[in-house]
Amino acid sequence: MKDASPQTIYLKDYTPFGWQVADVHLTVALAPNATRVKSRIHFVPNPNAPEQEFFLHGEELKLIRAAIDGEEVAPEITPQGLRCKVPSGPFLWESEVEIAPAENFALEGLYMSNGMYCTQCEAEGFRKITYYPDRPDVMATFTVRIEGDEAVKLSNGNPTDSGEGWAEWHDPWPKPAYLFALVAGDLVNHPGEFTTRSGKTVELNIWVRPGDEDKCAFGMEALKASMKWDEEVYGREYDLDIFNIVAVDDFNMGAMENKGLNIFNSSCVLASPETSTDANFERIEAIIAHEYFHNWTGNRITCRDWFQLCLKEGLTVFRDSQFTSDMRSAEVKRISDVIDLRARQFPEDQGPLSHPVRPESFQEINNFYTATVYEKGAEVIGMLKRLVGDEDYAKALDLYFERHDGDAATIEDWLTVFEDATGRDLAQFKRWYSQSGTPHLSVTEDYADGVYTLTFKQHTPPTPGQSEKAPQVLPIAVGLLNPNGDEVVPTTVLEMTEAEQSFSFDGLSSKPVPSILRGFSAPVVLERETAPEEKRFLLAHDTDAFNRWEASRDLARACLYAMITEGAGPDTAWIDALEQVVRDADLDPAFRALMLSLPTQSELAQMLHARGVTPDPDAIYAATEALKNAMAERWSALLPALREESAVTAAYSPGAEQSGKRALGNAVLALQTRLDGGKAAQAQYDAADNMTMQLSALSCLISAGAEETALAAFEAQWKDDRLVMDKWFALQVAATAPENAATRASALTERADFDWKNPNRFRAVMGSLAMNHAGFHAKDGSGYKLLADWLIKLDEKNPQTAARMCSVFQTWKRYDTQRQALMQAELERIAAKPGLSRDVTEMVTRLLS
Ligand code: BES
Ligand code: ZN
Repeated sequence: MKDASPQTIYLKDYTPFGWQVADVHLTVALAPNATRVKSRIHFVPNPNAPEQEFFLHGEELKLIRAAIDGEEVAPEITPQGLRCKVPSGPFLWESEVEIAPAENFALEGLYMSNGMYCTQCEAEGFRKITYYPDRPDVMATFTVRIEGDEAVKLSNGNPTDSGEGWAEWHDPWPKPAYLFALVAGDLVNHPGEFTTRSGKTVELNIWVRPGDEDKCAFGMEALKASMKWDEEVYGREYDLDIFNIVAVDDFNMGAMENKGLNIFNSSCVLASPETSTDANFERIEAIIAHEYFHNWTGNRITCRDWFQLCLKEGLTVFRDSQFTSDMRSAEVKRISDVIDLRARQFPEDQGPLSHPVRPESFQEINNFYTATVYEKGAEVIGMLKRLVGDEDYAKALDLYFERHDGDAATIEDWLTVFEDATGRDLAQFKRWYSQSGTPHLSVTEDYADGVYTLTFKQHTPPTPGQSEKAPQVLPIAVGLLNPNGDEVVPTTVLEMTEAEQSFSFDGLSSKPVPSILRGFSAPVVLERETAPEEKRFLLAHDTDAFNRWEASRDLARACLYAMITEGAGPDTAWIDALEQVVRDADLDPAFRALMLSLPTQSELAQMLHARGVTPDPDAIYAATEALKNAMAERWSALLPALREESAVTAAYSPGAEQSGKRALGNAVLALQTRLDGGKAAQAQYDAADNMTMQLSALSCLISAGAEETALAAFEAQWKDDRLVMDKWFALQVAATAPENAATRASALTERADFDWKNPNRFRAVMGSLAMNHAGFHAKDGSGYKLLADWLIKLDEKNPQTAARMCSVFQTWKRYDTQRQALMQAELERIAAKPGLSRDVTEMVTRLLS
């Protein structure tokens, strides 16, 4: 039985486990409804731990037999595990349990997906497979024997032996149980090979269901590129003879870094030009890199406890964005990352779910795989690197790997390495890990006698559980431009440590124009009242690509703010200034495409709320539409030329060059559709020979309400491809007019192929509903109610995915009292559901607090 009674775990309560595990032997005899798991574990008393009773985690297990040193024992079983009297010295623990993978819809532990067995053990899934000290600081070597008729049987490490109906694997690297994995099924492989720089040949495989073999080539190349990059940039080599990746259709997350056996949501590894968009290709490249990079940052050096999650995730996200920057365009990657940070992390940090990068307590750890831990965690590492410089960053990382290889480490360990490698005191910097909330940074300037002074003030609004905030260390990258557009002071990193601090630049013959927070050098809200002329100047002249983009974004925000609150018309001066950038053929098309993207409606709602205006989703939608229409009309002559310029004639390639062109062309197509009602989009749809072009055309047609033919054609063409049909489900809800969003989402849930137990399909509809800002926030509450109905239903099968989706309600206090009341009522309805999971209970409690 699963225990739903909320129990809070605190970082301050950490105590080591009373025993060390010398080794683990598992025998898994597979059967859909009665898999037998036998374990043999050598426990040795841990000299560094306080005395404690012997407790092993175990959930939803049927204990068949337990023995110590060969003698049967009768442990006391609780909903969380078992307690047992044990000898005072080393002993051999044996147990046999029975589990039912075919009935496991939570997709945690051992479960089945399309007839294949697979596992997901992070964070606390191993306890659903066998009794074990399921905590990351207990590391052991595993030997695994799998018994079953499946053609392919995989586990961690290297294969050691196999025969008819069985296979054995041994992983020589001690690891925590969360990195355990097992896969068995009638799979086929796409093979590859990589020779490490020390000359070792590694066998690579991507395992898929028959029929998907032709969608593995890109992932394989991405894997090899990742292996090479980690050798070249971080000096990290792979450490086993074999590296396997498996694609699974039913998966809660994107992918998982199990030692030597990464398991991927099939949407994050399978790719072909016909079925995947450029964005899919880029994401696949990044996620393969991410999971591979965990081999060092996560597996070889793991976390002492789950509070240290950012130690592996923040660092690995930082590493995978460095990789993407190197493979593609660093500027475009930075802008995209900031868009994502503002869309997902800022609302989290500014609402009821706000928590530090290293949380201090939790009820369900699955609820803390958040944008704050991941994306803000990566930003913190970016700041550290900016402060110490590239050379010292490299030195510190070398020391980290040298000192902590094989450890279950902490944030203290991580920072000490930086202190030792650089001689810096990072005590104040450490606040980035403990203080929640987004700092606000304001600036004033002064110019006299050739001296230019910038004065900064920082302040972080209170967040749940933290009313007092201390100043943080902020690396503020600044450049200064002459009024003629030349750069007089190149990018300089100012190190702000006080609540208020001034920095001066001398020897300036005229008052410069400052470019502040270049490259978004710290994750803060920059508050600066600047004249629109100055923003347009930066839009035209800034040498920093991020700030060029940001200048335009600021103008767009100001323009939309005036349209929403004062009924102003579109800012044509901005539109004309933007045109100069968008038509500049010397600039990267991907960058020009990003220049065309407007702030999201949710971001605008946040901005209004921050300025004391209650956001009206319908007004935000209307203003955004009006602005896009104005851009389209003003550029009516330019648009066809831009599409022509961005046309790709060569054979499809998902690389940066072509995908940048397609991004620009498709951003332009969206504007064109506003003028021609979908004519150009229909033509593109009919001619499309890749998913990027096909899907963006379909998106335009849906926005124009002219999708009927294309939508049916798309379904007929792709009805047998689960991943493509996910896009079909998603787009109809995401791109439709707000007044139709909930009705359409609801209608889609009636279809026979709405397999809601599949997380990808569920998210395609419900996640897209939440993304349709004005649709989700429909005044009558229909969006809220539909989502709440489905979250309640999903929770019974898959608490983890239901809980993650609860976060779409995190902004509920921004809105008017009527909408607030509707959202509150839905949250309370969810909270009141008998038998609600611990996962969702924690989320709705935090949301309502
Ligand atoms: N370790 C995680 C996967 C995970 C997350 C397991 C939560 C259990 C609970 C993995 O390394 C990861 O971070 N995956 C991300 C993608 C990545 C590119 C940020 C994911 O799955 O979304
Ligand atoms: Zn990760």
